[in-house]
Amino acid sequence: MVAAASGSSATRDGWSSRSAFILAAIGAAVGLGNVWRFPTLAGESGGGAFVIFYIGCVFLLGLPLVLSEIFIGRAGQTDAVGSIKKVAQDSGASERWSIFGGIGALAAWLILSFYSVVAGWVLYYVGVMGWDLLQAIGAGDPLRGALAGESKDVIEGRMGDLFASPSLLLVMHFAFMGLTLFIVARGIGSGIEKAATWLMPAFFVLLVGITIYGAFVGDMGQAVRFLFTPDWSKLPPAVMNSALGQALFSLSLGVAGLITYGSYIHEGSKLGSTSAAIAVADTSVALIAGLMIFPIVYAVGLDPAAGPTLVFQTLPFAFQTMPGGALIGFLFFVLILVAAITSSISLLEVPTAYGIGERGWSRHKSALIFGGGAFVIGIACLLGYNVWSDVRPLGFWSLFENTDILDTVDGFTGKVMLPIGALLTSLFIGWKADSRMVQEVTGLTGGMFVVWRFLIAWLCPIAVTIILITGLFPSILGS
Ligand code: TRP
Repeated sequence: MVAAASGSSATRDGWSSRSAFILAAIGAAVGLGNVWRFPTLAGESGGGAFVIFYIGCVFLLGLPLVLSEIFIGRAGQTDAVGSIKKVAQDSGASERWSIFGGIGALAAWLILSFYSVVAGWVLYYVGVMGWDLLQAIGAGDPLRGALAGESKDVIEGRMGDLFASPSLLLVMHFAFMGLTLFIVARGIGSGIEKAATWLMPAFFVLLVGITIYGAFVGDMGQAVRFLFTPDWSKLPPAVMNSALGQALFSLSLGVAGLITYGSYIHEGSKLGSTSAAIAVADTSVALIAGLMIFPIVYAVGLDPAAGPTLVFQTLPFAFQTMPGGALIGFLFFVLILVAAITSSISLLEVPTAYGIGERGWSRHKSALIFGGGAFVIGIACLLGYNVWSDVRPLGFWSLFENTDILDTVDGFTGKVMLPIGALLTSLFIGWKADSRMVQEVTGLTGGMFVVWRFLIAWLCPIAVTIILITGLFPSILGS
């Protein structure tokens, strides 16, 4: 492919083609949110009703926001703050709207800090399962089950041992952040795009492969029934709230991630179909991840509602009893790691682009400052599992009364900053941005434009306000 840089953007790095952008954006969207957070929430929330409501949120609220963020970046051609300013100027609106780009960059940076810690756990399990696989091969039995001879307690205890060791957590966090930093420092074309072009196909092959394996050794029928048969009594407001939040998180919305990625598109205007491709791919991966994990969970009679430990404690135990479990277990964690890397680079790219565009720093300097800063905050998060386990950073706020450091950063960004970002984006695009400009840049016309306009100007602000309020003040719902 030829570099598509042209005109005034000739000096700015960019995607080499439309499909390269789509692949990178899917890489950003598909992450721990799909393979870890979605199955965890679907399992805890009782399946079908949650899943169907989540899909509705993705297409009615998420998709219009995806298009809006890409539009801002495509039109602005610079970091999130600068791009919003440009759209505001061209539409005769106040430049102060660019504040949501700044909030977004800050949120992306905070999310990165704990995302890298969780990805570090995945890295640790890649090591554990990889070592086990080597032993299986050494013993001449590469197709044996995972972690042969270990009792359930030993397998489940591994997570506790990891959490109790600050140094082990730190090494994993350091390695993952270092890798993220290395890729982002290389830039768009030779860093992020190249990583996505190699890693995303590998991800899809592994995902489909393990799902087929699960269909053979597991209980696919029960998994399908669990995920797709709605029991509407299992959809109280709190569950709707978490489904909406999950849709925003999974599509990487509300923190200017897609504004930043969109700014590296220098030509072309089929943004509607591009956005649809991203939303469809992200949602499909979440659903397939469910169809990969639950058949295995059911086959060995495990509890689908196990919570955040489902993937780390429950599944290794399941892999023990399955043929080929040592190999598949190893590949499974490699899969999650790959998904996490293509997302963490998008998280670091948002503040990095801000440093380049608004502060005039070099890419290396900006990536190092923000990556290093997120690393330090991540250290606080991981110490929250051991030496600082009593610390409650926002303990004065009833919502975060009992949340440790990592969960506080996760909860505050997810429940507060992300919906605020989404709300401001929809208000700005729905009410302030010049319609003609939107139509020109996005290529959206006729009925499609009218529908999108309605969703972004009316449905998104109203629905997101409801999530924000019910999320922050659960007492309103009496729960
Ligand atoms: N969407 C990613 C996931 O599902 C996480 C992520 C990447 C993200 N970039 C983001 C979340 C920006 C919010 C905002 O794992």
